[in-house]
Amino acid sequence: MNNIIQNNIANRLGGKDFGKNTGIYKFAKIKKAKQEAMEIHPDRKIIDLGVGEPDWPADQIIVDRLKDECSKPENRFYSDNGLPEFRKACLKYMLTVYGIDFLTEKNVMHGLGSKPILAMLPLCFINPGDIALMTVPGYPVLGTYTKYLGGRVYNLPLLEENNFYPVLDKIPDDVLEKAKMLYINYPNNPTGQVATNDFYKDVVDFARKNQIVIISDAAYASLVYEGSPLSIFSVDGALDAAIEIHSLSKAFNMTGWRLAFIAGNEQAVKPYGTVKDNTDSGQFRAIQKAGCTALEHPEITQGTIKKYSRRFDMLVTALTEVGFKANKPKGSFYCYVPIPKGTKSGAVFNTAEEAAEYLIQESSIITVPWDDAGSYLRFSVTFEADTEEDEKKIINDIKKRLKGLELEF
Ligand SMILES: Cc1ncc(COP(=O)(O)O)c(C=O)c1O
Repeated sequence: MNNIIQNNIANRLGGKDFGKNTGIYKFAKIKKAKQEAMEIHPDRKIIDLGVGEPDWPADQIIVDRLKDECSKPENRFYSDNGLPEFRKACLKYMLTVYGIDFLTEKNVMHGLGSKPILAMLPLCFINPGDIALMTVPGYPVLGTYTKYLGGRVYNLPLLEENNFYPVLDKIPDDVLEKAKMLYINYPNNPTGQVATNDFYKDVVDFARKNQIVIISDAAYASLVYEGSPLSIFSVDGALDAAIEIHSLSKAFNMTGWRLAFIAGNEQAVKPYGTVKDNTDSGQFRAIQKAGCTALEHPEITQGTIKKYSRRFDMLVTALTEVGFKANKPKGSFYCYVPIPKGTKSGAVFNTAEEAAEYLIQESSIITVPWDDAGSYLRFSVTFEADTEEDEKKIINDIKKRLKGLELEF
């Protein structure tokens, strides 16, 4: 076979060796174990607690607005860097939900989900050799792009002993000198920890002292089970150093719609706008308008929060009864628990990946394993269940199956 294409692949993807790595990655392993479990136990229903997406569709008023808007001829054009109407809706949302009253239309801009925004921000700030400080475990996109651009990633582990916050005062001076961006994400995927005012204050002080841009990924910011949703902009001076990314994916059950927005000072929004303008031509206007309807109805999120909270109460009780050290998270839809040591029958789990594979093989329960900072399993409450009765049945089934494994902790 002629190798013209393979031989020209960029080094950032492995060059000529791209695609030849035989290592199997975490999510591929889970997929394989799921397939095997379905073949070996065709009668045992898979319970998927690994899903990182809401189980509900978007609210009907959002869907109806899209239906209405998508047939209007004026919505067919490129929207470039976004509709003024969407920006206005973002500002109103920031005021109503987060109490942030000083942003103007120059401080917000839409994106096709927070993922592409996180991919574009390193293009705004990273030169070869520059460093992005990334909390781990976590959502890796900003770090991946930093590396694509010849930058480096310095990991900040989120450990239980530090309440799943990064320790900022132990970062070596030579790293700080080259650091351009600090990525944080609260409520956190996967630990479920939320930010406090004091934490954000420390982060802002750190960023100002070391002249580092904070990228605050607020994808789950509205999904909190205690207190009120918190924006980093609640802290004095945050607008000088922080960029916050909000998404409609989890707050409004709109993952596939691809709509998010960046908030920050003009100096932050402008370079993002330049990169974005050279990358996409904006989200479909009808989707942005439906997004306005969502942002104008933040009470929609309350129904989702109520459902997740109810499911967590049942799940945490069930996991605790089985022996897991499980606590209800303060935010997000993830419950993050240390792995069992093994089973009474002699299985031993050295890593979370091993534990997760065992759970799939032996009980057809899917979780997501994390081995980056201790070994943990992530249980998500976004499993499919139509009624509260179904939720109870599923949780009871989870408990029964896990009990049957005779796990040792
Ligand atoms: C922490 C975090 N940030 C960002 C995203 C991406 O969300 P979006 O759908 O807005 O691209 C996810 C998706 O799972 C996530 O977990």
